[in-house]
Amino acid sequence: MHFFEYKNHQLHCEEIPICEIAEKVGTPFYLYSYHTLVRHFTVFEDAFKGIPHLVCYSAKSNSNLALLRLFVNLGGGVDIVSGGELYRARKAGADPRKIVFSGVGKREDEIEYALKTDILMFNVESSQELQVINEVAGRIGKKAPIAIRVNPDIDPKTHPYISTGLKQNKFGIDILRAPMAYRLAAQLPHLKIVGIDCHIGSQLVEVDPIIEALKRLKQLVENLRKEGMEIQYLDLGGGLGITYEDEEPPHPVEYASTILDEIKGFGCTLILEPGRVIVGNAGVLISKVLYIKENEEKRFVIVDAGMNDLVRPSYYGSYHQIIPVKEEVREEIVADVVGPICESSDFLAKGRKLPHLRSGELIAVMSAGAYGFSMSTNYNSRPRIAEVLVRNDQMFIIHQRESYEDLIRGEEIPEFLMPESGRGKA
Ligand code: LLP
Repeated sequence: MHFFEYKNHQLHCEEIPICEIAEKVGTPFYLYSYHTLVRHFTVFEDAFKGIPHLVCYSAKSNSNLALLRLFVNLGGGVDIVSGGELYRARKAGADPRKIVFSGVGKREDEIEYALKTDILMFNVESSQELQVINEVAGRIGKKAPIAIRVNPDIDPKTHPYISTGLKQNKFGIDILRAPMAYRLAAQLPHLKIVGIDCHIGSQLVEVDPIIEALKRLKQLVENLRKEGMEIQYLDLGGGLGITYEDEEPPHPVEYASTILDEIKGFGCTLILEPGRVIVGNAGVLISKVLYIKENEEKRFVIVDAGMNDLVRPSYYGSYHQIIPVKEEVREEIVADVVGPICESSDFLAKGRKLPHLRSGELIAVMSAGAYGFSMSTNYNSRPRIAEVLVRNDQMFIIHQRESYEDLIRGEEIPEFLMPESGRGKA
């Protein structure tokens, strides 16, 4: 469900025709619908009402400050994976007691920053990390709240690049070794065990693997309790999928009710870390068709957004629906929609059936709110594009398009390379 619709044959975001926004900000740009974001967060949050819970929005899916603030205003916490995301969460006004810190490679400075911020808990992914957190906490006179991220060895049935809970994945501590890690944590003086965590993968379209993971976690919690360890928080991670093409993921209400059935009365506060399901379908990428090019075999629609702006199709072979901003009856074509980047993998769609597109017109790449801007880069020295938020008939630029000056910020040419420093000297 989202608020991108044709009205009078023009694609609108809420009440604004997208062509008007394009005129003001230029192309390409990301566009988010405020009411879609609110709706997605609220539906998800409300679905877990029956039990003590905390929804920590996964910042990596879209870390724009305005979006973070919006979810903070709705009572959300934040799931972070770096010092940078912690900084953003704080700038957005997130309550530190609602921040969870995941990730296999936390640096000491990041650990220290999080400890000083008094976050809710660290989701720890190795025994060595436990030791390091203990050392840092001891050094600065704190007790670090920790959960162990358990790898339950479950096939989430998603793209191999985004499955994380299998033995061959780098994430978490093998469920069989987890009790040892907990015992170690219990002995380390500057750690406090508060929870257990897992995240088995992303874009999950079935709820069964999540429930299976939850069952395995519960079993482990029961064993830990027998050993006298208190597990206050059970963090199930994120991962709920969305419809990009014809996938039929469970609705958040169905997802929640299955989880609730399994966890009610277990005595833990449930933490969830949704990203994609909140922002994915609340954002689109708007781009302009530059050229149409044909040869005997193929037709290419060349647009002004590239893999540096939206990498998902190139990286995962992901499908994103592409529609023209102007709706009209047209013949159908089959084409590759490609960007300006000097890589053959720079495409937004391959062999796609599309309405006959013309150069100069606008297209909308749908479902681009998650892992769109946040994975964008400056490759080919392309300034990162603008982000716009629409609420009813008002638009807000929530991220200025980068300038050429932004591109070279921080770069320096050493003195010896400058002609005036004496070219030709040995
Ligand atoms: N929690 C943890 C520990 C995670 O690793 C992730 C995502 C999430 C929560 C949020 O997952 P979500 O609810 O968004 O599925 N770039 C890929 C997705 C990578 C997901 C990484 N981890 C893509 O574009 O599909």
